[in-house]
Amino acid sequence: MKNFWRKAAALALSGLLAFGLAGCGSGGEKSSQGEQKKDEPIVIKFSHVVKETTPKGQAALKFKELVEQKTGGKVKVEVYPSSQLYGDKEELEALVANNVQMIAPSATKLVGLNPAYQIVDMPFIFKNDQAALNFYNGPVGQKLLTSLEDKGILGLAWWPNGAKHFTNSKRPLKRPEDFKGLKFRTQSGGVLDAQFKALGAGSQTIPFGEVYPALQNGTVDGQENTFNNIDTQKYIEVQKYLTVSGHGRIDYVVLVNKSFWDSIPEDLRSKVKEAMDEATKLATELSDKQNKESFEKIKQSGKVEIYELTEADRAEFVKAMEPVYREYESKIGKEIMDAARNAQ
Ligand code: LMR
Repeated sequence: MKNFWRKAAALALSGLLAFGLAGCGSGGEKSSQGEQKKDEPIVIKFSHVVKETTPKGQAALKFKELVEQKTGGKVKVEVYPSSQLYGDKEELEALVANNVQMIAPSATKLVGLNPAYQIVDMPFIFKNDQAALNFYNGPVGQKLLTSLEDKGILGLAWWPNGAKHFTNSKRPLKRPEDFKGLKFRTQSGGVLDAQFKALGAGSQTIPFGEVYPALQNGTVDGQENTFNNIDTQKYIEVQKYLTVSGHGRIDYVVLVNKSFWDSIPEDLRSKVKEAMDEATKLATELSDKQNKESFEKIKQSGKVEIYELTEADRAEFVKAMEPVYREYESKIGKEIMDAARNAQ
């Protein structure tokens, strides 16, 4: 946490220096006198870590198209997919420093700023996709979205992306005891470490862009992700078993640098917001569709042995997760846990 802010401050400083030297920030087109140049478009750099073909990748491109259309080119969006510009950790620092203006990380990666975002990882807490969506769009989800404003970050939207499932290279995972002694990649945050610990397994945080080689060279035995990420990252080339568990979620929070956002003239900002609302609809539709398609593709490939948890298996896992619920209820907050549990 301390490290994060130290680095963010350093980046912010380098950003400011660059701003001062060049007379313009990445998002604000100013002349050397600091005046907004009339004909220069405002540029939003949008960085993310997944492929362009994924729901997030497609929604980001849709957002670009809509922004440019609705503002008549006065606001331009540059999308950088596949960790091209920044990986998991750097993208958040770059956002604070205004080196990029928009990112859409998986919510759990915000744990260092607000531990409550780990609600998405709380095992077996959401009943289904619709329940998660209703939670995000309800008062508790909306409050979470705006919880980073004092850190200079504004949440614009939740982009739901779907349930996570386990893959690994060692053996079929059907019951909690099957996890003993295995090591899994995690995105970040204590809930995921606690989840694997409760199953007798180890864990290691690895940036998304480095997961494939980590699975390939055996740094970790397994990972957890959506069907679409498993498919588009080609994990099944280096994994032998898939457990359809839907035990947690990977959903995104679209974040914008707040000072940059406030600097966009009001008439244009409302168009950008409109574009975001439309892109959010697309992200929601695509996540459902593409996860289904990817699951079919994984099945058809015959490359992994697939096991779907039964209701009885799920009950065993839920029981095994009791220490996680106990430890994290106070860290995440009872109000948030209850809202997630009760969402329909
Ligand atoms: C992961 O790190 O596994 C995911 O958060 C990547 C993503 O953005 O979908």
